[in-house]
Amino acid sequence: MTDTNFSQSSSSIGLNISRVGAEEKLQGKALFANDVVLKNALCLKALRSELPHAVIESIEVQRAINSPGCVAVFTGRDIPGKNRYGLINKDQPLLADTKVRFVGDPVALVAAVSEDAAQTALSKIKVEYKELAAVFDPEEALAPGAPLIHEKGNLLGKRLIKKGVPDLAFQKADIVIERKYQTTFVEHAYLEPDAGAAFVDQSGRITIYASTQNPHYDQVDVAKLLGLPENMVRIIQTATGGGFGSKLDINTQGFLGLAAYLLKRPVKMTYSREEAFLCTSKRHPLKIVYKSAANKDGRLLAIDVKIIGDTGAYASYGLAVVTRSAVHATGPYEVPNVHVESVFAYTNNSIAGAMRGFGVPQMAFAHESQMDLLAEALAVSPLEIRARNILRLGSTTATKQTLTASVGIGACIEAIAPHYEQIKKSIELTKTKNLRGVGLGCMMYGIGNTGVQNPSTAQVELQPDGTITLFSGAADIGQGSSTVLTQIAATELGLDSNKIDLVTADTGMTTSAGATSASRQTYISGNAVLDAVSKLKEMLLTEAATMLRTGRASLTLKNGRIENISNNALFVTLEQVVRKAVTEGIPLKWQGFFDPDTTPLDPDTGEGNPYATFAFAAQLAEIEIDVLTGEVTVTKVVAAHDVGKAINPDCVKGQIYGGVAMGLGFALMEEFAPGKTVSLKDYHVPTFSDMPDVHAIIVEDAEPTGPYGAKGVGEPALIPTAPAILNAIADALGSRIYFLPANLERIMKAIHSGTSKPLKIKLMV
Ligand code: MOS
Repeated sequence: MTDTNFSQSSSSIGLNISRVGAEEKLQGKALFANDVVLKNALCLKALRSELPHAVIESIEVQRAINSPGCVAVFTGRDIPGKNRYGLINKDQPLLADTKVRFVGDPVALVAAVSEDAAQTALSKIKVEYKELAAVFDPEEALAPGAPLIHEKGNLLGKRLIKKGVPDLAFQKADIVIERKYQTTFVEHAYLEPDAGAAFVDQSGRITIYASTQNPHYDQVDVAKLLGLPENMVRIIQTATGGGFGSKLDINTQGFLGLAAYLLKRPVKMTYSREEAFLCTSKRHPLKIVYKSAANKDGRLLAIDVKIIGDTGAYASYGLAVVTRSAVHATGPYEVPNVHVESVFAYTNNSIAGAMRGFGVPQMAFAHESQMDLLAEALAVSPLEIRARNILRLGSTTATKQTLTASVGIGACIEAIAPHYEQIKKSIELTKTKNLRGVGLGCMMYGIGNTGVQNPSTAQVELQPDGTITLFSGAADIGQGSSTVLTQIAATELGLDSNKIDLVTADTGMTTSAGATSASRQTYISGNAVLDAVSKLKEMLLTEAATMLRTGRASLTLKNGRIENISNNALFVTLEQVVRKAVTEGIPLKWQGFFDPDTTPLDPDTGEGNPYATFAFAAQLAEIEIDVLTGEVTVTKVVAAHDVGKAINPDCVKGQIYGGVAMGLGFALMEEFAPGKTVSLKDYHVPTFSDMPDVHAIIVEDAEPTGPYGAKGVGEPALIPTAPAILNAIADALGSRIYFLPANLERIMKAIHSGTSKPLKIKLMV
C-alpha cells in the first residue's frame, strides 16, 4: 500500500487551520465570564465618584446594609492587604480611601442577592465629599501651583532619547517643518464589557473567573490587595471578547476577590457598557510638537519631538506609553540626529492606560504627516520620500540599536507601491462629485515590553495514552494565540494540530506567559512553546533510537510517531515510548522558557536595545469626501505587513482587518470626553458599513530568533491606518488636519478654512 498521507509533511506552519475555540464560539457554547453560573452568587456593584477630585469626609453605609437583599457594603477600610494596585505604578486604590481622583473612581462596593437589590443598596450609601480644585490638562497639571493629585506629584514619568547633534543638523538642513499634533482619549469598546465571577474553595483558595489579558499578573495584584500569598488566588481566564489593552488592568478581579474572600460566598460582577466607558482605561491623548529637518533630496537629517501625555487619574500602563511613544518617534526611518522628550502627567481625567499600540498609533499620525509635508515641500512623491529614508539591514534606530535581521519595511512599501500609483492615476483621470484622495502610512513596532525582561514559560506533557497536552499561560483574547501555539507544537512533534490538547491562562494549571500585550505572544510564547516541545522531542528521539536500535539522526517525528527518515515502515508510536518512559522514570513533562534579548534604555540618552525584533508595515488608504456634509468614506485600504512568518495567514489577515477597522475609528470618529461620553450612543465606532475593501498583503522577512521566523501583528495592524487616512484627506482637500479624530466638524473646518498654517517652516530649496 502506498499511503500518500504518510509522505506528506506534518507541518501546519503557514496553514489556515481553523481557529482553536472557533467552533464553540460559533455554536454559542464558549463560556464568557458573564456566562459563569455559580450557585447563589451575590451580585457586586460599585458606587463611583461623580466628582473629579474630592476628599472623602465620610461614607455612611448603614442604610444600604439594612436595605432588602443587601449582604455587605465594603469601603477602602475593609481591604485586608495594601489598597494600591497597578502593574507598573502601584498608585490605584481598589476602593478610594482618602480621596477620589476622577469621575468614576470607586468608593464603595455592594454585595447583594440580586442586581436590583445591589442597585437599591448603592442608592442608599451616603458619601460626604469636600471638593478639591481639579485639573484636566497635563501641561496645567505640571505647572507650579496645580492641584496635587498624588502625593508624589503630578508627573507620571519622562523619557529622553538623544542621538547625534540635532541642533547642528537643523542649522544645516535645507528644510525644516514643525507642526503640532493632537489626539484625544479613545475607548477600547470591546464587544464584551468586563466581567468575572469568584468563589472560595474548601481549602480557602479564591478562584476568580475573569475576562482578562493576563491571569498571572491579576493573581499578583489581587493577592497583594488581599494580603494573601499568591497561591491562595487562582485566576482562570474565560473566553474573552476583546481586550485591546484595557483588560490588562484588574477591572473586576479585585472586587471579586475582595468580596469572595471576606464573605466566603460566590460572587459575580458584570460591568454595564456605561460602567466600562466610565471607569476602564482609555488611549492616551497626546500633544506632539514635531520638528523635522531634511536635505533637498528628502533625506531626513534630524527630528526634535516633544510629547506631552495625559495619563488621567492613575498610571495604569501609562509609563509604558511614555517610553514607547518616545522610542518610536522616528517611525520606520533612519534619522541620524534625534532629540525626543516625552512627559506624561496625572490629571483628573479618566484613566489612560494600554490601548493597542501603547502610544505608537498617535506617534505614527505625527511622523507620517511630517513625511507628507516634507514630500510636498520638496516636490518628491510620498512613496519616494519614504523609500529614501527607511530602516534597512545595518541601520540604527533612535536608541542606537543596530538592526541585523528582518527589516521588511522596504518590502512592505514595494508591495503597496503599484496600488498607490494605480489609485493616484485613477483619481487624476476620473472626475467625481466627491473629492478623492490617497494616502500612505508606515510604521515600525518593537515586539514585547520595552527594554525590560518579559519572559514566557510553557510546558508540554506526553500523556500515558500517547496524547500531548500543551500548557501555556497565554490568554487568547480573540487574536489567535491558542491557534498559533498549537500549530508550533504540532509541527515540532509531527502531529496534526487537532492532536494537541491545550490548557491556557489558568494560574492553577499553567505558569506565566506574561501578558497578552505588546504583540508579544507569537514571538515570545511561541518560542517558549518551541523550547518545551524541543526538549520532549529530544527525549522521544533518544528513546525511539534505543527501541529501534538505530542512530537518532536517522529518525524523525512524523505522522504521530517516530519513524525512520528513509523507511517509514520502521517506527515506534508515542504510546510505545510512553510505556518505556513510565517504567524507567523518564520525565514526560518538559518546561520551556524564552525571554527576548533586550537591554534597558539609558535614563539620560535612551540608548539601548529595547526590543529583540521589530514588525513593520505600510498601508495606503483611498478615500472620498462629500464636501457638503464633510463625510469621509474610506473606499480601499491596502495593508502590507512584515510579520516575519505567518504561522496562520488567515489569523494574520483577521488581525489586519480588525486593525484597519480600529484605525479607521481612531482616524475619523472615536473621541472620548471624560465625564461627558456615556456610552455607545454618543461614541461612534466603525460598523460593517464603514469598512473599506481591505487588501491584506503578508510580507515575510523571517526573524531568525522567531518561532519559524515569526514576529507579530496584533498592534501593528492598527498603527498605519489613521496616518494613511489623514494623509489621504490632505491629498483630497489640499489642507491638513492635525487633530484626531478628523470628524465631520474638523473636516468641514478644513474645507472652509483652506490650508492651515505651519507653526514654523524654513525652506531653502
Ligand atoms: Mo496592548 S496596548 O499591548 O494590550
